[in-house]
Amino acid sequence: MKNVSIAEWKHLKDREPAYALVANVDLVIVRYDEQVSVLYGRCLHRGALLADGQVEGNDLICGLHGWDFQYETGISAYNNAERLHKFTAWVEDGQVWVDEEEVAAWERENPQPFQRDTYLGTYADTHPVEEEPHVSLIQGYAAHGLEKTGHHGLVAAMGVPRMELPMWDAIQFVTAQLATPPQLDDVPVGTDVVIGPNAQKPLRLMLPLFVSDMSFGALSEEAKIALAQGAELAGTGICSGEGGMLPEEQAGNSRYFYELASGRFGFSMEKVQRCHGFPFQRRTRRQNRNRRASTRAEGQRQNCPSAWVTSRRTRCFTCSLS
Ligand code: FES
Repeated sequence: MKNVSIAEWKHLKDREPAYALVANVDLVIVRYDEQVSVLYGRCLHRGALLADGQVEGNDLICGLHGWDFQYETGISAYNNAERLHKFTAWVEDGQVWVDEEEVAAWERENPQPFQRDTYLGTYADTHPVEEEPHVSLIQGYAAHGLEKTGHHGLVAAMGVPRMELPMWDAIQFVTAQLATPPQLDDVPVGTDVVIGPNAQKPLRLMLPLFVSDMSFGALSEEAKIALAQGAELAGTGICSGEGGMLPEEQAGNSRYFYELASGRFGFSMEKVQRCHGFPFQRRTRRQNRNRRASTRAEGQRQNCPSAWVTSRRTRCFTCSLS
C-alpha cells in the first residue's frame, strides 16, 4: 500500500467535482457533506474529464453530452451497466488520500492511452465515432501541419456516395406517354435526344444518357480516354468533371461536355469554346437558405444536442448519444 494525497480537504467545495491524476489515471473527487468519493475520472461515452462536469441531485453529469453517474457509487442510474470504477479513498490530516498501488493495479488492467506531453495530451479524442469522420484528420493537421501529407494536404476525388446515386431500378420509361399511339414491339424507336434544338449548334445524343462528370485526377488518364472513346462508340457524350480536361479525352469524343462547378477548378472560357456542351451549377440565395433550413429541420427532428438540446439522453446523430 502506498498512500498518496490527492487534495486538501478544505479546498474541496461541496458537491463540486475536482481533478486528480495518480499513476496515469484521471480521477474525479467529489466531496459531499463530510464524505468523499473518488472515481475513475473519464466519461464512458467519449472520454471527457468528469471533473469538468457538475453534480445534479445524486448524479455527476458529464459536461459534454450529459451522461450521468451517481457520484457516490459511480453507477449510472440510467443504465446500471455503465459504471465508473470507485477507488478506496479517505480523509485524514486535512487531506484526501488514495492508495497509489491500487490505482496503478487498475491502470495495468485498463491501460490509459494518453500521451500527456504531446499535442492534446490529456484531452485527446480516444473514442472516435463514425459520425465525426473528420476530427482525427483535423487534429492530425493541427499536430503535424503538412509534413505528413505534402504541400497540398490530403488530395482525393470529391465523389458522390454510391448509395445516393439513382439505381437502374429507379428509372422507369413509360413509353405510352412518350408516343401516341404506342408502337408495336417490332417498330424501331429512336433513342436520340437533342439538347438545345433551337440553338445554333444543337447537340444530338444517340442515347438519353451520357458519361457523367468525373475529372481527370479523380479518374486516371487511361480511364478518362477509354470512357470518352466508349461513349463516342455508343453515340453519346462525356463530361469533363470539374478540374483537368485532357486533350486526348476531348479528341476521343465528339459530344464533349465541359463543366463549371462551384470550385471553378481549372475553368476558362477559352475551353468552353472548344466543347460541345456546357453544364454548370448555380444555386440561388433562396436555394441556399432552403438547404440550410432543411438541415436544421433534420437536426430538430433528430433532437441533435449539438444544436437542439431538448433533454439529457436524447438521440444525437453528431455524437451517437442515445
Ligand atoms: S463524453 Fe461524456 S457524455 Fe459524451
